[in-house]
Amino acid sequence: MTVMRSEGMIDREQHNQIEAAARLLRAGGVVAFPTETVYGLGADAANPQAVRRIFEIKGRPADHPLIVHIADAALLDQWAVEIPEAARRLAERFWPGPLTLILRRQPHVPDAVTGGQESVGLRVPDHPVALALLQALGPEKALAAPSANRFGRISPTTAAHVRAELAEGVSMVLDGGPCRVGLESTIVSFVGGTPLLLRPGGISVAALEAVLGERIETPSAAQPAIHVSGSLPSHYAPTTPLEVLSAEALKRRSWELVKQEQRVVVLGLAPPCQDSPHLLRFQMPAEAAAYAHRLYAALRQLDAGYFNMILAEAPPVGVDWQAVHDRLRRAATVYCPAEIQSQENIYEESC
Ligand code: TXA
Ligand code: MG
Repeated sequence: MTVMRSEGMIDREQHNQIEAAARLLRAGGVVAFPTETVYGLGADAANPQAVRRIFEIKGRPADHPLIVHIADAALLDQWAVEIPEAARRLAERFWPGPLTLILRRQPHVPDAVTGGQESVGLRVPDHPVALALLQALGPEKALAAPSANRFGRISPTTAAHVRAELAEGVSMVLDGGPCRVGLESTIVSFVGGTPLLLRPGGISVAALEAVLGERIETPSAAQPAIHVSGSLPSHYAPTTPLEVLSAEALKRRSWELVKQEQRVVVLGLAPPCQDSPHLLRFQMPAEAAAYAHRLYAALRQLDAGYFNMILAEAPPVGVDWQAVHDRLRRAATVYCPAEIQSQENIYEESC
């Protein structure tokens, strides 16, 4: 079998690996697989024991629900009930793709998958390897899968990231190359009747609203524009401290740190001007999708041990950048993206 997709063709060797992965999954194993967003750590969604292994491997609390990955929108009714017409429209338009719908679950969906909630998260991934794996697993089967990282850490966007982080307990890592989107899916809940954005991601809210013809409520709009670590749970985080600052504040901060002989790397949007032994500039793309594609890999690379501090120049504000800002805010020890008038001490006062 060969499968043609935008990412290319599945060759004979990859096909054999996918078949082997499906056998491991049927036997209750846990397999890491590529999606267009990030790599997932999957188990047969109908096998609670296998699903519980995912939580052990990740070190993730058992009440955090997993997304169920299905092969086709036509399978929606097998996993969810009372599906609003608006949710069906989004599925029709954006699947396969980086959109997760939270819907009322079918009673058979294991508690191990939903964290005991009455809802279930569903999506059809847009990656030829993920789709071929679902096909090989069997008709109407599904993969419960979170991102294939340890709990609270940066999601993996290559097979090498997965192998480096989750050596123990994973039956197999399928390599599908670097993930095209690079950030997780957008999550929209329909459980309360009207659509609610739970996580910005690979598809912009504007694109979803254009199809729905109505606004999607965004609880994240109420989140603080500024924070210092401790005021929000750390998530998607490197171990090296990360500060997200306006270009002006970043210049002052980097100078201050270099004077203290700290080893600083700047994730900048403008081309590098001058490096010093203590200050390295790492240029990020100025376009939102390209920035998103690079972000996690860049954070992993810069987190490898040499630097004491990662400073990121705050990207522009706008719907296209919403998911990037969300992830930077969660990863940062200090998130202060706008220039603040009284700059005296952002660390003690404004943040
Ligand atoms: O792009 C993605 O969504 C990736 C790929 C692998 O599909 N998956 C991913 O999974 O990011 P995870 O587990 O790292 O993040 C899924 C988020 C979690 O915050 C979880 O709490 C939420 O989705 N979620 C899953 N099911 C839910 C439900 N029934 N109700 C509310 N939130 C849910
Ligand atoms: Mg995750």
